[in-house]
Amino acid sequence: MYTEKVMDHFTNPRNVGEIENASGVGTVGNAKCGDIMRIYLDIDEAGIINDVKFKTFGCGAAVATSSMATELVKGKTVQEALTITNKAVMEALDGLPPVKVHCSLLAEEAIHAALWDYAEKKGIKIEGLERPKSDIHEEEEKIEY
Ligand code: FES
Repeated sequence: MYTEKVMDHFTNPRNVGEIENASGVGTVGNAKCGDIMRIYLDIDEAGIINDVKFKTFGCGAAVATSSMATELVKGKTVQEALTITNKAVMEALDGLPPVKVHCSLLAEEAIHAALWDYAEKKGIKIEGLERPKSDIHEEEEKIEY
């Protein structure tokens, strides 16, 4: 049911933890399943994401997608991180079972929430970044399975 990459990231998740005095912190939940994701970003003066950590109270697919998402945004610029969608994360994991696709939205949305927090703290506007939702359940309704 799960690809080898999903199993690898689930059993050995990368970048678990938290960052003290993070540049941005984003938390999102899914009211339907009750899962919660929090992402911490450390962004330097040049706008490069030097470090990223996550903590979750979520299912295995949420753990695997968040682990992969943190790997994909690390070392990227803020603008590049914005282009990393849940689709890109799923592709990097060689796919997810259709009923688990919504879980991948937690990571994407938590990264956006952390970027939003960073922009607010710095008093800047990030081109293309919309105010994140605190609950991805609404978004989920729009996904086609
Ligand atoms: Fe809730 Fe996967 S079942 S995020």
